[in-house]
Amino acid sequence: MKKLFWTFICFALFLVSCTERQAKYRIGISQCSEDIWRDKQNYELRMGTYFHNNVELKFAAAHDNDERQVQQIDSLVNEGIDLLIVAPNQVQTISPAIDRTFDKGIPVIVSERKTNSRKYTAFIGADNYEMGRVMGEYIISCLHGRGTVLEIKGLEGSSPAIERHNGFIDALKNAPQIKLVASLQGDWTENTGYETTRQWLANHQDEHVDLVFGANDRTAMGARKALGNGVRYCGIDGLQGEGGGIQLVRDSLLEASYIYPTHGDQLIDLAVKILEGQPYEKETMMMSALVTRDNAKVLLMQNEELMRQTHRLDQIHQKADSYLRELNTQYVINWLAAGVIVLLLVVIVLSYLQHLRKLAIQRERVTNTIWNMEPITSVEEQQTHEDVDKEEETNASPVEGTFISHFREVVETRLGDSDLSVDDLASAMNLSRVQLYRKVKAMTGSSPVELLRTARLNRAYQILLTTDKSVSEVAYAVGFTAPSYFTKCFKEAYGMVPGDVRK
Ligand code: FRU
Repeated sequence: MKKLFWTFICFALFLVSCTERQAKYRIGISQCSEDIWRDKQNYELRMGTYFHNNVELKFAAAHDNDERQVQQIDSLVNEGIDLLIVAPNQVQTISPAIDRTFDKGIPVIVSERKTNSRKYTAFIGADNYEMGRVMGEYIISCLHGRGTVLEIKGLEGSSPAIERHNGFIDALKNAPQIKLVASLQGDWTENTGYETTRQWLANHQDEHVDLVFGANDRTAMGARKALGNGVRYCGIDGLQGEGGGIQLVRDSLLEASYIYPTHGDQLIDLAVKILEGQPYEKETMMMSALVTRDNAKVLLMQNEELMRQTHRLDQIHQKADSYLRELNTQYVINWLAAGVIVLLLVVIVLSYLQHLRKLAIQRERVTNTIWNMEPITSVEEQQTHEDVDKEEETNASPVEGTFISHFREVVETRLGDSDLSVDDLASAMNLSRVQLYRKVKAMTGSSPVELLRTARLNRAYQILLTTDKSVSEVAYAVGFTAPSYFTKCFKEAYGMVPGDVRK
């Protein structure tokens, strides 16, 4: 029974494990920073997984710290990711960790910031040089080709900072009347944008600035805090939503911005293509566009609509997800319930069979005890016998015991009488024929006639063994009226004819 129980538990556990979703692709995401641009991209990355339900994401954010990003990449790899998506903080410092990952055979997608080697599987980003250049041209036209500009660059050593700066400088080459008063070092944060501008201002009180180009919108807004309203500001990122570049342009806090696409969902699609061995583009350049007061309002409206749809999609997904979870649980419960029912049925049938067997053996034992038949010999049966014996010891009432011995005595004394009938036996036991039948049958499982025959055959067996009497003489001696009938019964009981006993 114990075995059966454990088999059932294993079966249940197996079922539960089967209902777990299939094996997942584990994708590590190493983000250099944490800011509204990264938040949007991370959100899209998660959304991207909705279309591939075999993908699991592990996020790490380095907060603009090279050392931390290297550690995070190494530990993502050690945790056992199948693919790495990485936005390297600075080119030189992060590249070795990316190379190590690639050398271990883990595919790497470099996202928007570049590395200094070719050891990556795919790159997806936008043209930062072009953004800087277009923004330069826009600024020139804004100032009608004449004026003073302050540049605040992005983080030193990060590829978009270098490329945006180069594009911007190249554009200014075509406008000799535009004076670049300074190119200050920023680090993508609003705070540094503010601090560097403030310090510069403290040392250049007489310098007039018409326009500030911040390498991103946050940097430009930092400069705005330091220089105030009389100056115009341009940045890059052009995020939609509260506090994003598009709104800042619409509200005239920025003169212009440039959409720097996040497209996290596209990153996931690319990752899955690589993991599934499908064809993919090694270098993907995403579209981007200038945001000015002319298009900011329209862009915002479109973005709001897009966000509404995205939000709905997200809700639908969550609903579908919880429905699937419920379904899964229901599935497990159904199987467990079916298992319990089957187990119960098996237990009931087995117990019933065991009970029947015990009953049969008990009866046989009682009969054998009374009439001295051959003992049962197999080990298993012996065991069951012992169990039954124990039960008998505790269950058999003394009254029953006395009755059986009395009945045996009566039968044995009178079995030589071929006219002996059940009525005779009943009256010897002071019972009616029916009462005797019921009692004997209930206690031994055999009828009085059967027991009488067994006793006769048993006695005949002993006589055959111990005397020289002929088979007919023996038959008559134990109350049979016809030797042929005696032989037939004897053969049925012992599997041999009476004559064989002596052999
Ligand atoms: C976000 C961000 C953006 C910028 C980009 C450059 O972390 O700082 O503001 O455009 O990274 O990689």
